[in-house]
Amino acid sequence: MIWTILLLVLLIFILTNRWRSKGEPPLDKGAIPWLGHALEFGKDASKFINRMKMKHGDVFTVRVAGRYVTMLLDPHSYDTVLGDSDSLDFTRYAQVLMERIFRLHLPYSQQAKSKEIMKRHFVGMNLATLNSAMSRNLQALMKAKTTQNQKDWKEEGLFNFSYSLLFRAGYLMLFGGEQNNNPIDPSSVYEEYKKFDGLLVKMARGTLTQEEKKTAQSVQNKLWELLAPAGLTDDSGSSPWLHAYRQFLQEDGTDVEMQNRAILMQLWATQGNVGPAAFWLLGFLLTNPEALMAVKREFSQNTQMETTTGTPLMDSQVNTPVFDSALEEALRLTAAPFITREVVREKTLRMADGRQYLLRKGDRVCLFPYVSPQMDPEIYHEPQKYKYDRFLREDGSVKKDFYKGGKRLKYYTMPWGAGTNGCVGKQFAINTIRQFVYMVLTNYDLELCDPNAQMPEINASRYGFGMLQPEGDLPVRYKPRSTH
Ligand code: HEM
Repeated sequence: MIWTILLLVLLIFILTNRWRSKGEPPLDKGAIPWLGHALEFGKDASKFINRMKMKHGDVFTVRVAGRYVTMLLDPHSYDTVLGDSDSLDFTRYAQVLMERIFRLHLPYSQQAKSKEIMKRHFVGMNLATLNSAMSRNLQALMKAKTTQNQKDWKEEGLFNFSYSLLFRAGYLMLFGGEQNNNPIDPSSVYEEYKKFDGLLVKMARGTLTQEEKKTAQSVQNKLWELLAPAGLTDDSGSSPWLHAYRQFLQEDGTDVEMQNRAILMQLWATQGNVGPAAFWLLGFLLTNPEALMAVKREFSQNTQMETTTGTPLMDSQVNTPVFDSALEEALRLTAAPFITREVVREKTLRMADGRQYLLRKGDRVCLFPYVSPQMDPEIYHEPQKYKYDRFLREDGSVKKDFYKGGKRLKYYTMPWGAGTNGCVGKQFAINTIRQFVYMVLTNYDLELCDPNAQMPEINASRYGFGMLQPEGDLPVRYKPRSTH
């Protein structure tokens, strides 16, 4: 019996273990069989990847929960991954995540069509309509939070303040609610979504405890139920985009249950990052008075222009270089997606400096722009510091030239990903955040409860999943401006 078990263990060891072959990147399997570095990776991926970078350089393969992942951290070489959709596949890993987080199985073929529908509504002509609807919703929700002659301050955590307002405004505009055929209260969707969001990383990694699994299932069930009317009928109050998406799923033969799961995934894609991004920006502005003054000054110049020319601030054409730089800097510090591709065909990774490495079929390759370029001290002086004007030249124009190893970088920040799978909602998200920050800073008095407060720490377990979130919150107080 003992011999059989020992033989079995030996067999598993031989079959699952691997050694670095000639031409492959440095391999670091970690001490624990199969798990490899999974625990350290899950705890704080950024810290772990930095440690591996010190040990192995800017390309290496690590074992994480049975998978072999090659990390590429040289931004000069990112195009070799982003530009090769033949050997490196975006969809397979996306499908793994869809299954784990949303329990969603959609045919491979649907993804391109879904993206095309989204592009049609979120890029180009339709963007202006979305932006003004979003602006109206934001103003209405903000008004409902305060009273007209309110003299007293209201206190709240800035993260919750930003996330809840933007989430509810976005939900109302895209998914409907509060209509005859869709009487769902956006606040209840937000409350459930927050619980879901709290478990999302563990769902993606498959590390939920039994208790958390039960909670996740019940929250998913509630959200599917709340989203069931969205996009179904003309009077569900949903956007043309969601109608078109729902119709596509119906015509493609997707059953109702899977449709609702797909709608939850769209809720995550459209709402999951905007609120946290707005929080970081507002937080950095409030804790950096000089930056706050500069953004307010630019807004007030634009307000004057808006009244004389009638061009609304939401318009993508409006020139706000100071705001843009302040946002880019906030995203540099807090946008930390993994850009992951599955190796579907053996590939030679050709680095910009001439090095070449073999990538094995079945492995994953992952870019982590947060480590480089975004937090790279060779590119950014004092990378941990928020400097609102990092992306401005002395004459006030936009700064785009950043260097590593003496060579100009094509990718100097990557909050939106890049290449064919870059973010479809980028312009909509930027316009929304700009409108939100503008509305809050011009129509309300908003200040830190403790004038000496510092930004909260980052929740280190969320590296790799888009926008980071804080540990705790930043208490602020607000009231309508007396002049309004
Ligand atoms: C601050 C807000 C946002 C951030 C930081 C962000 C970030 C990203 C990133 C990094 C990716 C690329 C993932 C990869 O290459 O693996 C991505 C993809 C995507 N984003 Fe966003 N996003 C934001 C808001 C939005 C919004 C508002 C929408 C929709 C209206 C959206 C729709 C999408 C879609 C559909 C994709 C997948 C593209 C594809 O399938 O090729 N995002 N986003």
